[in-house]
Amino acid sequence: MENFTFYSPTYFVFGKNEENNAGHYVKRFGGSKVLIHYGGGSAVRSGLIGRVEESLKKEGISFAQLPGVKPNPRSGLVYEGIDLCRREGVDMILAVGGGSSIDSAKAIAAGVPYDGDFWDFYSGKPIEKALPVGTVLTIAAAGSEGSGDSVITKEEGMLKRGAGSEAIRPVFSILNPELTQTLPAYQTACGITDIMAHLFERYFTNTKEVETTDRMIEGLLLAMIHEGPVAVKEPDNYGARANIMWAGMMAHNNSCGVGRQQDWASHEIEHELSAKYDCAHGAGLAVVFPAWMKYNMKHDVMRFAQVATRVWGCKIDFADPERTALEGIEAFRNFLKGIGMPLTFAELGAKEEDIPYMAGLATDGGKRTVGGFVSLHKEDVEAIYRLCL
Ligand code: NZQ
Ligand code: ZN
Repeated sequence: MENFTFYSPTYFVFGKNEENNAGHYVKRFGGSKVLIHYGGGSAVRSGLIGRVEESLKKEGISFAQLPGVKPNPRSGLVYEGIDLCRREGVDMILAVGGGSSIDSAKAIAAGVPYDGDFWDFYSGKPIEKALPVGTVLTIAAAGSEGSGDSVITKEEGMLKRGAGSEAIRPVFSILNPELTQTLPAYQTACGITDIMAHLFERYFTNTKEVETTDRMIEGLLLAMIHEGPVAVKEPDNYGARANIMWAGMMAHNNSCGVGRQQDWASHEIEHELSAKYDCAHGAGLAVVFPAWMKYNMKHDVMRFAQVATRVWGCKIDFADPERTALEGIEAFRNFLKGIGMPLTFAELGAKEEDIPYMAGLATDGGKRTVGGFVSLHKEDVEAIYRLCL
């Protein structure tokens, strides 16, 4: 295991009706004028925004609103949010929604106290200061409610890029599993896929002696394999929703990733798909991740065989561990198919002729490699996209 520091100070409030205490937590974490930032309408239709407003009023907290965050959130609304916050003297952002609303809120929070263009942070400049961000989560998926990361798409050139900093980790996050019961089956499945992908990105490592985090990851994957199909079939199943919601946080606040090198190539390869075709991030991962696994399994076939046996219940073939590894990858694909995820470019609406363009963007024109477990060059990324056809 490698040396590490771990500091993850988000205050989590988990359970039924807790969104009605949003005002209390805003006050507790120092907010007096809030921007409520949310998406395309689900939170209004469900009455959630109304309840959050009531709770702020009860605590005497004034607020402005900025709706309209799109999945794969765009820079245009971030600029609007920064202007609005400055004009209104906002001192805390409250994101109500999923990863997209939260990531957009984080970008606004970093942009308000900064003199330059907020996009600098998504081009590598470290974020040192930001307004505090609170969240009311409505979809278990991205893990942004507990992470210091934000992913934004710049409309000009449709560039999807991430920024990471302790300054944008939410100060509090309200997780009420009931709020996820209105999710369509497809979005639920996209969320489950993203959660599993965050676990796999950490699982495939070259670091030795990481049994504790290996076992944590395997446990969370097993929970997803058990609870995922239940939530897809029974949207109102509180138990399944609750387990998935907490797993989504655990999968990405890095408690499972400390002390080990991580990969993240599949995410970088996927981001070009969701930028180009505006598909759901989880759906893009369902297509890319099994292909990445097939392409790289020979790098450490025993690690792939290990997950196949411990998580997918395959029987190890010591004479031919590659066979076991492949069986595990196939079991993952079958699971994804079973919850309604796409498995190919065609199902996603992606086109073969765009492969060189996307591989170029993912590797900065071939100038950099992606991935920690295996360093992938532009040609490798192209080959992985081709395995998705
Ligand atoms: O906009 P509304 O109307 O709310 O609809 C949303 C949206 O269409 C809908 N939805 C959310 N909660 C709902 C609901 N519909 C009914 N009932 C509910 N309770 O679901 C759709 C997807 O929402 P979105 O916020 O886009 O989902 P998700 O949480 O998957 O976020 C995806 C974004 O997060 C980024 C992705 O790249 C993508 O841009 N990621 C962020 C990360 C981070 N910050 O740490 C890490 C991830 O790997 C990921 O890259
Ligand atoms: Zn993800």
